[in-house]
Amino acid sequence: MAQATDIQRRYGKTQRVDRWWIEPALFGGGLLAFVIYSTVSALILGNSWHFEAGPYLSPFFEPLIKPGWVPEWISPAVFILWAPLGFRTTCYYYRRTYYRSFFMSPPGCAVTEPAKSYSGESKFPFILQNAHRLFLYVALVFIPILWYGALKAFWLDGEGLGVGVGSLILTANAFLLMMYTLSCHSLRHLIGGGLDCFSCSNYTRTRRKAWDILSLANEHHKGWAWASLISVGLADLYVHLVANGVLTDLNTWSNF
Ligand code: FES
Repeated sequence: MAQATDIQRRYGKTQRVDRWWIEPALFGGGLLAFVIYSTVSALILGNSWHFEAGPYLSPFFEPLIKPGWVPEWISPAVFILWAPLGFRTTCYYYRRTYYRSFFMSPPGCAVTEPAKSYSGESKFPFILQNAHRLFLYVALVFIPILWYGALKAFWLDGEGLGVGVGSLILTANAFLLMMYTLSCHSLRHLIGGGLDCFSCSNYTRTRRKAWDILSLANEHHKGWAWASLISVGLADLYVHLVANGVLTDLNTWSNF
């Protein structure tokens, strides 16, 4: 008992014998790399690093909003990125990841943490995490917008229908971002939560069916979260490389 009490007091101490620190180190590093890349690519370089190439538009800028009154040094991505940023930072899975990796709260199951008290998400700023449902509504609006961008990537003005590597990358990206959104815990609760009886009426039975379908995606929310994060970063990088003449896109069009 004396040993257990001692362990509880010292930060980072645990009786676990596995390499529990690999996951928070790996996922924290991945998240940090994405935050740095997306900030530099979309916000700092913004207009100076071309983000449109033929029929392709980087997903960080979809839909392109460029009002005339906005100074040139402000990236159009500022009108877009607040939505996915808010959705991801309040996501239940990402909270788990960055609480562990960055706040050490706790760094792993059954591993002691530095904080002496715990107030959950009931105080500022963490109380803002409760806005996740609101960011979900915005994210749902972005699904058709991203699909529009993906379908647009198969049409080159002046030549018409065709396909290129960029079209496929943007399509895969729209699919993965859609699956990440549809696998959201909050959406699952919105569809099937708050019911006492699933079989009581046609309405509740229909909700049960929808809930069952969403649950299939929800089981893999972590996988969708990472796959879509990587795909959106790669799609942005690919479009930038093509737009800035670093890469040549393989496609069926003759003038692109
Ligand atoms: S819980 Fe992760 S997106 Fe909603």
